[in-house]
Amino acid sequence: MKTIIEPFRIKTVEPIYFTTREERAELLTEAHYNPFLLKAKDVIIDLLTDSGTGAMSSNQWAGIMRGDESYAGSESFYRFESVIKNLTSMPYVIPVHQGRAAEKILFSIEGGAGKYVLSNTLFDTTRANVEYSGAQGIDLLCPEGKQTALVAPFKGNMDIDALKAFIADNGAASIALVIITVTNNSGGGQPVSMANIKQAQQVCKARGIPFFIDACRFAENCYFIKTREAGYENKSVQQIAQELFSYADGCTMSAKKDAFANIGGFLALHNAELAEKCRNMLIMTEGFPTYGGLAGRDLEAIATGLEEIVQEDYLKYRIRSIEYIGEVLDKHDIPYLKPTGGHAVYLDAKKFLSHIPVQQYPGQALCCALYLEGGIRGVEIGSVMFGKYTDDGSLIPGVHELVRLALPRRMYTQSHMDYVAEVIINLYQKRHEVKGLAITYESKYLRHFTAKFKEI
Ligand code: F0G
Repeated sequence: MKTIIEPFRIKTVEPIYFTTREERAELLTEAHYNPFLLKAKDVIIDLLTDSGTGAMSSNQWAGIMRGDESYAGSESFYRFESVIKNLTSMPYVIPVHQGRAAEKILFSIEGGAGKYVLSNTLFDTTRANVEYSGAQGIDLLCPEGKQTALVAPFKGNMDIDALKAFIADNGAASIALVIITVTNNSGGGQPVSMANIKQAQQVCKARGIPFFIDACRFAENCYFIKTREAGYENKSVQQIAQELFSYADGCTMSAKKDAFANIGGFLALHNAELAEKCRNMLIMTEGFPTYGGLAGRDLEAIATGLEEIVQEDYLKYRIRSIEYIGEVLDKHDIPYLKPTGGHAVYLDAKKFLSHIPVQQYPGQALCCALYLEGGIRGVEIGSVMFGKYTDDGSLIPGVHELVRLALPRRMYTQSHMDYVAEVIINLYQKRHEVKGLAITYESKYLRHFTAKFKEI
């Protein structure tokens, strides 16, 4: 059969509210041209994030009822711990309320002034937590990853030569740790190969540098390894994931992605001394080590989600639905980051809106235009998110100007995707009408969440 169907039936539904173009024009002005400031009910298809927005299964909901809410030693914790130990082989499992809480704990301990944290690409909260500790975050993405139109299997890889050179120039003692993000979210949801993970680990091991994985989308990454990397085609995604984690000294995880949970995360470690320090900080900031900022029911939902996420029928449908949008865009020569990633399509706003200079934030402008055209909410991953200023106040742009359309897990069907493609095509035909934006307000850290803009 050619058609890949959604591998689930729908038991509960949520209504979508429709708005007119005129209403959206007003709502957009009220939200200061920042889709983060829109009310979700005013969005028709919400592709802002795949984080915490997925649909839980009937088994996860059953787990919610089973959740043991004991303050200490909850049954749900032991189930959570055993699923994660089985996946990662890491003996110390520390629950947190979401991924960035794991980052905050890890980098408060391992970061600090004068240190570097090296990555393929740090996600924005990871970078913010690194920098807040006083350390510097350095992205060492492979050259293929920087070319949006190039089709290559593992564009999320770390540049191993650049890694060696950076360590040689700065000294191993200055490197707090190396952390590889799988899949590489800010770099287009592109996967990292097992070979690349192994090479990075060997470089780190030889120099005594801890090697970590930001595991948010580990299952999607492992499905790409299965389908793209020689030698893995006959292994299960669970086995591939176990191998991937076996190379790491530790990992941070947002269970809001590849654990089908609405909230949660964890830090898993091999090092007992580091685990002790992390747990001490956990107690101060999150909670007792057997719940860490979560309810027992959340721990249950995550444990079940981690078992469901590696199911290959699901991953096949997941990767295929994203690829499907890419194929429609290809038919109309609409520029996007190729190939499509594991959780999202990334439109290339620099090419899509080539008449808008980077100083006028083409990614943000495209986000707003998509909302106006069809009520679709995406997120800018460009100079609003990653731009910095020189001392004289001019913009240092981000590497790319992208708009990410992230697909919540098990939420939308093929006709929703057809609608999304139709809106993008309509907008592309009248792209010259879209105007650039100027920032009227911004915060010091993570400005994209709260910034305000006006049309130029
Ligand atoms: N690392 C990566 C690669 C992420 O994509 C995210 C979150 C985090 C860490 C932080 O996890 O949200 O649970 O605190 N990404 C979301 C997104 C927000 O939309 O891509 P968190």
